[in-house]
Amino acid sequence: MYAAARAYTNIALIKYWGKKDEQLILPMNSSLSLTLDAFYTETSVEPLQGLHEDEVMMDGVLLSGASVAKINRFMNLVREKSGRHMFARIVTRNHVPVASGFASSASGFATLSAAAARAYGMDCSGAALSRLARRGSGSASRSIYGGFVKWMKGTDDASSYAVPVDPAKWPICLVSVAVNKQPKKISSREGMRRTVKTSSFYPVWIKEAERDLARIEPAIRKHDLDMVGKIAEANALKMHAAMLAADPPFTYWEEGTMTVMRCAVHLREQGIPCYFTMDAGPNVKLLCSEADVGRILEDLSEFFPSESLTVARPGPGVDYLKNPIQ
Ligand code: DP6
Repeated sequence: MYAAARAYTNIALIKYWGKKDEQLILPMNSSLSLTLDAFYTETSVEPLQGLHEDEVMMDGVLLSGASVAKINRFMNLVREKSGRHMFARIVTRNHVPVASGFASSASGFATLSAAAARAYGMDCSGAALSRLARRGSGSASRSIYGGFVKWMKGTDDASSYAVPVDPAKWPICLVSVAVNKQPKKISSREGMRRTVKTSSFYPVWIKEAERDLARIEPAIRKHDLDMVGKIAEANALKMHAAMLAADPPFTYWEEGTMTVMRCAVHLREQGIPCYFTMDAGPNVKLLCSEADVGRILEDLSEFFPSESLTVARPGPGVDYLKNPIQ
């Protein structure tokens, strides 16, 4: 019996940066994100007799070697937890345009968790799915829910999962600017590890992240875009500052990253609320109000081609699908 699901990607406004436990993927700090409607992954999982390993078809290509190792490890966990030992045929389609500058691991592992949990007869409640998705990729724990979502760091496997905070039913938008579409040289996993181990700013980052989280939640509940944007922007800058203080230091920023940051500052000087955030990569996401999207795209189009610009709105949580993915 197959199960199929869809989940959307998310953008962190208070970032997750650093693990306390690499195996269980327990984070050093709690984080908060907005699930987005423009980018999603669909996956079906079908446990089958007679398979000698998991068969993974991604966007029409049969995966092999290193590209499938992370999914195999995850499916081994599913088999261990469910007590069912069959290998599975997994078919997955990413609707995350390469040009969007978004990674698909959050939507990918959230979707795989939902489909695998149902196909292997496991607990499919939100908390159980969030905990399972976390083991694939930390940020995937938040893509189980729509709107604004908080991942509570917890103290162990049972207590580290995400919860919905606000359905984001207000006209908030996100403009994604793809500055460079090439794969990054330092993965977020490696970047986090180096920052935790060597950055003298890291203890400050942890303190600030918890403080930013406590301040952003009431701002979200009040639908205060300015306050949400200010806190999110400052939080992203602090995460990137911690990387600059690592040994050896590193940054994901490029010239284009700075161009977008300057655009945001310029727009604010004109009275348009517009705030930037960047993950572990050079691409920038601008948080803004629906009413200002046209003007923001106009300003950005001076520097970037239209195919690098994507507008996203708050998206829903994980959902099950009737038909298998082709
Ligand atoms: C900067 O969730 O991709 O986007 O848990 O190692 O798979 P792993 O990392 P991942 O890291 C995301 C880091 C971030 C911030 C965030 O999404 O909170």
